[in-house]
Amino acid sequence: MGNETPDHAVRWRNIEPGDQTRVAAVIDQWWGGRAMSGRLSHVFFIHFQPTSFVVECSDELLGFLLGFVSQTMPNEAYVHFVGVHADYRRLGLGRRLYERFCTAAGLLGCDTVRSHTSPQNRLSIAFHTAQRFNIDPGDDVIDGVSVWRDFAGPGEHRVRFVKHLGPAMTVERFTPWEAFRAAL
Ligand SMILES: CC(C)(COP(=O)(O)OP(=O)(O)OC[C@H]1O[C@@H](n2cnc3c(N)ncnc32)[C@H](O)[C@@H]1OP(=O)(O)O)[C@@H](O)C(=O)NCCC(=O)NCCS
Repeated sequence: MGNETPDHAVRWRNIEPGDQTRVAAVIDQWWGGRAMSGRLSHVFFIHFQPTSFVVECSDELLGFLLGFVSQTMPNEAYVHFVGVHADYRRLGLGRRLYERFCTAAGLLGCDTVRSHTSPQNRLSIAFHTAQRFNIDPGDDVIDGVSVWRDFAGPGEHRVRFVKHLGPAMTVERFTPWEAFRAAL
């Protein structure tokens, strides 16, 4: 007899080029009908594999995270999209995707993780707040949340999240003194 519990079939791995079609097929539905697939870029599936992940069960995609390390600020990592299948939410998959990303980012020398969302995405705000992200104070307040007006283009206001990783995550690349300073 093989493993019969669903958990044994759950697989976490780095993203691969073949995942782009699978993610594109579900992303609009997972985002509640919003047209998101046009905002997916192949670069995540090719150039950002070390910091992008999927979780799947047999052939079914349960969740994904697309992120990268900033080339402009090499100590910062950015999460572009995180999504979990609606039937598998509130099970900790999103949290675990973020944990994997933060671990990878820390090992790559990052001490800071950022992400953005639209002020209307209350689910994303609740989720990021639960992951102990702080909201970067912006220049306006919408529905009680601090936002950066026109941050992603005219009318595209964004809530900016920031989280500082602990020093233990950064010692792989930083010297102990740099890691100490990064934690201040
Ligand atoms: C946001 C999303 C990725 C969360 O995935 P998830 O696997 O359900 O999240 P988790 O189970 O790890 O939740 C972790 C915590 O976040 C908070 N949270 C998650 N969903 C929430 C909700 N609907 N309402 C309030 N808080 C929520 C809770 O504190 C939760 O912990 P708890 O379940 O112990 O209370 C998922 O809801 C999703 O794919 N949403 C649509 C896409 C999207 O908006 N992505 C974010 C912007 S890129």
